[in-house]
Amino acid sequence: MASAPCLSLLVLVAMASAASAQLSPTFYLASCPSALFIIQTAVQAAVNSEPRMGASLVRLHFHDCFVDGCDGSVLLADTGSFVGEQGAAPNAGSIRGMNVIDNIKTQVEAACTQTVSCADILAVAARDSVVALGGPTWPVLLGRRDSTTASKTNAENDLPPPTFDLQNLTTAFANKQLSITDMVALSGAHTLGQSQCRFFRNRIYNEANINTAFATALKANCPQSGGDSSLAPLDTATPNAFDNAYYSNLISQKGLLHSDQALFNGGGADNTVMSFASSAATFNNAFATAMVKMGNIAPKTGTQGQIRLVCSKVNS
Ligand code: HEM
Repeated sequence: MASAPCLSLLVLVAMASAASAQLSPTFYLASCPSALFIIQTAVQAAVNSEPRMGASLVRLHFHDCFVDGCDGSVLLADTGSFVGEQGAAPNAGSIRGMNVIDNIKTQVEAACTQTVSCADILAVAARDSVVALGGPTWPVLLGRRDSTTASKTNAENDLPPPTFDLQNLTTAFANKQLSITDMVALSGAHTLGQSQCRFFRNRIYNEANINTAFATALKANCPQSGGDSSLAPLDTATPNAFDNAYYSNLISQKGLLHSDQALFNGGGADNTVMSFASSAATFNNAFATAMVKMGNIAPKTGTQGQIRLVCSKVNS
């Protein structure tokens, strides 16, 4: 039964490998055979102690990949020579999980010095988070190297804000060679995690394409003014399970963010939303495929970049 999606994923991985010759699922097999086990064990422990951490790690990989490629740039703190991505509007007071990645990096460095990049740790941690919360698995392509710089401006230009409509979202993903199907599938990561009131306030008070009871319930914790950082689950139905309930929510006009509901609002993504809502297997397969594609955005390989010793700073 599972052989058809598995086969198509393998074909995709082979195609992706061909596109960026040095990325390979077996990149650390000889140089750091324990890396994948160390990462998986640490992610499982982090998710066991706080399920939301799985969501935060998936998002961190997305925010890494969309800004100058998957190169660990999101992890860099500001320095005298650049203002990094963590202070950019989509990240400030919002991204989480950097401490978990730092902790994994320390363990991986103890096993194999300066071998495994922070960018690869992010990619594997995202996959392991999805699996830990009940989602699909996929072979993670490896061999990315870490950036030596980061750009707040690029983060603000390339990460889509929650105010975007379908056209803007489509363009933001197309800019990264991701299709509408990839975009709808990747947005399904909002089956996990939480959003702060400041990102959905306008939607619950001012938009018409929202379920009334859903909006009313959310207002209790997200007043017209104040409570900016109060949290609500992105998937009210099953916040800590990786499943396809996100798409059924959209069909019931229970998308939390404007950008979520934009995927099902009478436009060209409606049919994809309906197909993912009606088949968990179709969604899981599309999500795994799209994560491989996203993980393949502009990797640094060969002599580009470096293997950082500490993920938050460039090697001295
Ligand atoms: C389609 C465009 C997207 C927009 C506009 C968007 C926007 C947002 C916003 C505003 C939040 C809440 C952040 C906060 O309150 O601090 C959020 C959370 C989240 N996003 Fe997205 N996102 C998008 C796509 C994605 C993609 C492609 C992924 C991963 C593949 C993703 C994964 C997540 C996860 C897992 C969370 C919850 C994080 C947590 O609880 O720590 N998002 N997103």
